[in-house]
Amino acid sequence: MTQRETWATRAGFILAAVGSAVGLGNIWQFPFKTSTNGGAAFVLVYLLAAVLIGLPAILGEFVIGRRANLNAVAAFRKLDHPAWTAVGALGLLTGMWILSYYSVVGGWVIQYTIGSATGAYLTDTAAYFGSVATGPNAIAFHGLFMAITVGIVAFGVEDGIEAATRLMVPSIVVILVGLAVYAVTLDGSGPAYGYYLSPDIDYLAANLADIVPFAVGQAFFSLSLGMGAMITYASYLGDDDNLVTDGGIIVGLNSAVGLLAGLVVVPLLFVQFGTVPDSAAGGGPGALFVSVADAFASLGLAGRALGVVFFGVVLVAALSSAISLLEVATSYVVDTYGGRRPVVAAAFGTGLFLLGTLSAWRTAWLGWFDTLAYKVLLPTSVLLAVVFVGWIYGPQAVDELQKGTDGGARLATVWLWSLRTVVLVGVLVTLYLGVVSIYP
Ligand code: PHE
Ligand code: NA
Repeated sequence: MTQRETWATRAGFILAAVGSAVGLGNIWQFPFKTSTNGGAAFVLVYLLAAVLIGLPAILGEFVIGRRANLNAVAAFRKLDHPAWTAVGALGLLTGMWILSYYSVVGGWVIQYTIGSATGAYLTDTAAYFGSVATGPNAIAFHGLFMAITVGIVAFGVEDGIEAATRLMVPSIVVILVGLAVYAVTLDGSGPAYGYYLSPDIDYLAANLADIVPFAVGQAFFSLSLGMGAMITYASYLGDDDNLVTDGGIIVGLNSAVGLLAGLVVVPLLFVQFGTVPDSAAGGGPGALFVSVADAFASLGLAGRALGVVFFGVVLVAALSSAISLLEVATSYVVDTYGGRRPVVAAAFGTGLFLLGTLSAWRTAWLGWFDTLAYKVLLPTSVLLAVVFVGWIYGPQAVDELQKGTDGGARLATVWLWSLRTVVLVGVLVTLYLGVVSIYP
């Protein structure tokens, strides 16, 4: 048997995990959901969810992955709990389900990057979205996005994923900071900051039952939880890494990029519309594409250049997330059946391309794939993983978390109890509210 791959450096793991976390969830959905869920009130709940629920949960996935040194499915068997491999399998399926339409949106982003350069959306941004989102263009660019993803994963952990994300993640941060600073200087962006940064507590109190499932679900999705991605990435780690610090950095950077993306997008929307347009302006998953393109279109040539940069960054972020999803399935097959990595990655890529053509055919189907993922699959998968780490694997999980932390026993115990209580209840409530919102 060949030696299993590992990260070359500690930073390599952190950057790859941040690359997985930072994606369409941060740059597209986060500002969009923020603007349809009360602005800063949503931001506040999201940040609380990321720290109180997301951080303990991501550490749980790290513990499983590093302890087992195996892919997300086989890991549970290796940890002597074979029945729980079903949870790993659910995570893998959830990830594949998501990648099928994530890639379609990735294809939209490629088209918007090109469209900014050529000025294709300038005359009619809504009509342009229509031509991008469904039909032959959507299918072709979905295929292209999937092919690039397969290409990176084919090169493996160190030469593919680590090398790619080492470049991608720093450029995402630098460019977003640049765009956020630029947004401050635009006429009319001023009121955006109050809307985005100072929470309306009355609104929050009145809409808590709506905001919570959105914000917590968003935190899971954003941190790449419940899809085996973090289990898989942590499985390439050594025992001397401090998981707690790494997890803190990853959650911190992911939240920071979400906030930053909002600091770019929300001011642009205020410049263009004097407010954030509600979902009526375009509606559904397209709202942000249309509104942001409107904002760029109104800025003339500078807007086109900004468009290339902005959508280029979104593309890079989406790719570094997509590779982590594909890696879950690829590593499972490579570990278990010893297939050749490029062949396995290409086979999954082809199957998911075909599944994704449904979402590329009708935006409503894409919305349905997304809703099911967000509200049912993801919270269920996170819930089971939390139960496993908290209540089944408990003491050994504490032991694993402490490695590389020198000391840290008390911290690890606090973590375990937070998983068993706060996190568990938080996930249950989210799942319940999510399911109720689909089947009222
Ligand atoms: N976290 C990614 C995002 O915010 C999406 C993702 C989910 C990536 C699960 C990998 C695994 O866009
Ligand atoms: Na994210």
